[in-house]
Amino acid sequence: MPMSHSLPLLLIISVVATASATTIGVTYVPAPTLPPPEQVATTLRSLKITAVRLPVAEPSVIRAFFYTNISLFLSIPNSLLHSISGNRSAASLWLYTHVVPFYPRALITAISVGSNAIADRDPSSGDVLLRAVRNVHQSLVDLGIRKITVSTTFSFVNIMMTAFPPSSAEFEEPTNNAILKPLLQFLAETNSSFFVNLYPYFVYKLRPEIPIGFALFQQQAYNFRDDSITGVRYRNLFDLMVDGVIAALTISGHENIPVVVTETGWPSSDSSNEAENHQIYAEMYLRGLVYHLQSGRGTPLRREGVAEAYIYEVFDTNTTFENQAAMRVGTGQNWGFLHPNLSLKFEIDFSGGFPTTTGVLAKAVLAFLSLVIGLLFC
Ligand SMILES: *[C@@H]1O[C@H](CO)[C@@H](O)[C@H](O)[C@H]1NC(C)=O
Ligand SMILES: *[C@@H]1O[C@H](CO)[C@@H](O)[C@H](O)[C@H]1NC(C)=O
Ligand SMILES: *[C@@H]1O[C@H](CO)[C@@H](O)[C@H](O)[C@H]1NC(C)=O
Ligand SMILES: *[C@@H]1O[C@H](CO)[C@@H](O)[C@H](O)[C@H]1NC(C)=O
Ligand SMILES: *[C@@H]1O[C@H](CO)[C@@H](O)[C@H](O)[C@H]1NC(C)=O
Repeated sequence: MPMSHSLPLLLIISVVATASATTIGVTYVPAPTLPPPEQVATTLRSLKITAVRLPVAEPSVIRAFFYTNISLFLSIPNSLLHSISGNRSAASLWLYTHVVPFYPRALITAISVGSNAIADRDPSSGDVLLRAVRNVHQSLVDLGIRKITVSTTFSFVNIMMTAFPPSSAEFEEPTNNAILKPLLQFLAETNSSFFVNLYPYFVYKLRPEIPIGFALFQQQAYNFRDDSITGVRYRNLFDLMVDGVIAALTISGHENIPVVVTETGWPSSDSSNEAENHQIYAEMYLRGLVYHLQSGRGTPLRREGVAEAYIYEVFDTNTTFENQAAMRVGTGQNWGFLHPNLSLKFEIDFSGGFPTTTGVLAKAVLAFLSLVIGLLFC
């Protein structure tokens, strides 16, 4: 009898423990041809989106998110890195125009100092980057603002030397020693997160042997990859890539730094192959991603999974992805999930109501177990 007591309790704990889900955000780039930011903010809010990344942090756009309870992720453009790294006042000046007038009415939670700034492999850019990140952090501290995470954004394809299987993943040299190690130390000291753009789409394009269903979160029986060293089984390419990053962080001695996926998505058009139906792929990827992140299942190497993931992007902006390995493979340019008239291109539910079957099932399991336990104890 003791056995049958402890088993249901164990099951309950595991059902309850999968409840914490990743924050799902979106990247929003305003344009004169698109609706005004206030209208976009209202739409994003009605879609139950709780986090927005603004690669172009215009004050008027930040203001549009006042009192929306949507958290904002801002970016400082690469063009300012040199002045900010050389001069703390330049960092303060940026904060005085983009943060101080708005915070906390606008819920700014993160600042990326530069994005993909190491792509040119210029070793001096590492020092510039680190000094700029530190200056922005120190300026925030001087202003008495301690709740904003400061880091810089990397691109998966530019920092990973070996990514597969995850158990052999490592960051690329010399970037690792010159930039990542000191940055990770800084992130650990300041409780900040590691920001990475992570696109299964680009890896799929570079490696034709990867089945499309594995990249698109399809659950077919044959859609898996095993890590032959650890025996861990991966059901989708996103988790495989996230665990590559986590394994590389672990090798660097920083296995607990939270990971924020600053960009991920799938284009609904692809310049390299007009024949394929990319709109359906984009829909499958985004729905699969949202469902997966809301399930709270995490990845095999990290139970809580990524802390946040920002979908790229709200509207089509004719993206060219300069400075990325992706340039080599002729990639799509239209990544948006909203039409310019603010209607969804395809159905996608950000509200957390998406995995209804899982939720209903979990409730049914809980009800059944409490019944069983009730019977056992009476
Ligand atoms: C604001 O958002 C947070 C996280 O998304 C949520 O927990 C909280 O209940 C929201 N507050 C209001 C007043 O809506
Ligand atoms: C530092 O930055 C401030 C603000 O951008 C600027 O006014 C000042 O001239 C800069 N100082 C130096 C030494 O570059
Ligand atoms: C980081 O977080 C830990 C635990 O929450 C806390 O004790 C520490 O003071 C924090 N450090 C900073 C610099 O915020
Ligand atoms: C999209 O960008 C490409 C390359 O920058 C340019 O040639 C093309 O005209 C742009 N298309 C639109 C619709 O803006
Ligand atoms: C919005 O635009 C799309 C694409 O042009 C169109 O298919 C859709 O019917 C429009 N929706 C509304 C409500 O106007």
